[in-house]
Order: sequence, then C-alpha cells, then structure tokens
Amino acid sequence: MATNVISAHGLRKSYGRGANRFDALKGVDLDIAEGESLAIIGKSGSGKSTLMHLLALMDEPTEGRIELGGTDTRALKGRTLNKARNQTFGFVFQQFFLTPDQSVLENVVLPLKIAGVRRSERRRRGLAALEQLDMGDKAKNKAVNLSGGQKQRAVIARALVNDPRIIFADEPTGNLDTATGAVVEDILFALNREHGITLVIVTHDEELAARCDRRIHIRDGLVVEAADREEVAA
Ligand SMILES: Nc1ncnc2c1ncn2[C@@H]1O[C@H](COP(=O)(O)OP(=O)(O)OP(=O)(O)O)[C@@H](O)[C@H]1O
Ligand SMILES: [Mg+2]
Repeated sequence: MATNVISAHGLRKSYGRGANRFDALKGVDLDIAEGESLAIIGKSGSGKSTLMHLLALMDEPTEGRIELGGTDTRALKGRTLNKARNQTFGFVFQQFFLTPDQSVLENVVLPLKIAGVRRSERRRRGLAALEQLDMGDKAKNKAVNLSGGQKQRAVIARALVNDPRIIFADEPTGNLDTATGAVVEDILFALNREHGITLVIVTHDEELAARCDRRIHIRDGLVVEAADREEVAA
C-alpha cells in the first residue's frame, strides 16, 4: 500500500467571529498518497482554496490536524515550519505572484534564496528548471514581459526548483487559453509520472479533473463524495 504524504483529520476552518463567523470547512478527513494526482473540485465558495491552503501549511485550521510524512504539523513552528513548507512543496497558483520588474531567473530562484542556497548554485538550478520548461532563453527577461503561458511556466519552474515532493496547484490553467492550458497540464502530469511528484490540483475544469488518479468533491465545506478511476469504471 502506498504511504501517505499528507493525512488530514477533522479539519475545520472558520473565518470571522460571532455573528460574522463563517464555517468554510466543517470537518474534512483526507489522505493523500505519495505519487498520486488528486483533483479537488466543487463550486465557487465551497472551500477548495481554503482546504488547499491548510494542506500546504499556509494557514492553520481552527480545529483538526495535518500530518506531513507522519509528523503532526502542529508541532512545527516558525522557522521549522517555513523550512518544511519550502523543502516539501511547490506552488502553482492562478494569480502568478511573479515580481514583475525582476528577471524570470530571479523569480524562479526565490525559494532557493529563502532556503539559503548560495548564488552560483541558485543560478545553476534555476536555469536547469527553466530549461526543463523550454524557458531557458527567457531567463534574463523581466517577468512582466512574458506571455500568460510563459508566466505560468515560470511559476512551474519556481515550483520545481526546490525538488518538491508535492505540487499544489490552484486553478493552474484558469487564466490560459485551451492550447496553452493543455501544455501546462502536460508538464504537471509529466512531473507526476516521471519524477513521482504528488499533485494536488484545485480546478473547475472537468477534463483536467478527469486526468487525475482521484477526485474529491467539496460542497459547503465538506467532502461529499470521492471517486477514483476504479469506482467510476465499476
Ligand atoms: N479570509 C476570509 N474571511 C472570510 N471569509 C472567507 C475568507 N476566505 C474565504 N472565505 C469564505 O470561505 C468560503 C470558501 O472560500 P474558498 O476560497 O475556499 O472557496 P473556493 O472553493 O476556493 O472558491 P473559488 O472556486 O471561487 O475559488 C467562501 O464563502 C469565502 O467567501
Ligand atoms: Mg479558490
């Protein structure tokens, strides 16, 4: 049986207080197996991004816990938490979060800078990641001057540069035309297949969800059904 990279138990997340309180997640249990591709689907406002932010340790649950490789992440604080996040995860979000007036290479090596990797090594690994995405010739360009698809590939290069075990992608193709979206999807699934990187993808796109090994549906803060290929085929 595959080991779980992430195990979430009884996750609840509430925003606001008192009369303004909103329960965005109402008790979610979820195991994510090493090397799988998982789609999180559901309507706008159902809690998908909230769940992903918790799983990626970017936000804390109001209740419940998340284990990362068997370690209870509630024990991780400050620097240790940042380090775990930075070493284990890559992020691909719909809003690109590139610094527009910095070069593509500078943007891509940011996680390495945070990790304290020295300059020459940063450059080597950053260029290698860009080459993988056929973006080597854009390394010196300012991020602002890239096309949408190129920006998304730069974001994927940045997600890869740390050799992550898990890539979290929130609507990775949402802003892209169909053809460019397909290229970005192919890159993500190739990373999954060839490097065993676990993919967790939030999407509205049925076809993208269908390409994943497994899908979970979120409705009003709860997992309402889980379907994998076998169940669908049965
Ligand atoms: N910081 C916040 N304060 C208050 N409410 C919030 C906050 N963040 C999210 N919410 C609410 O929590 C619910 C879930 O939000 P979330 O962003 O997880 O939805 P989503 O499923 O990702 O939607 P979309 O598909 O539109 O991105 C929404 O009703 C949203 O308004
Ligand atoms: Mg969202």
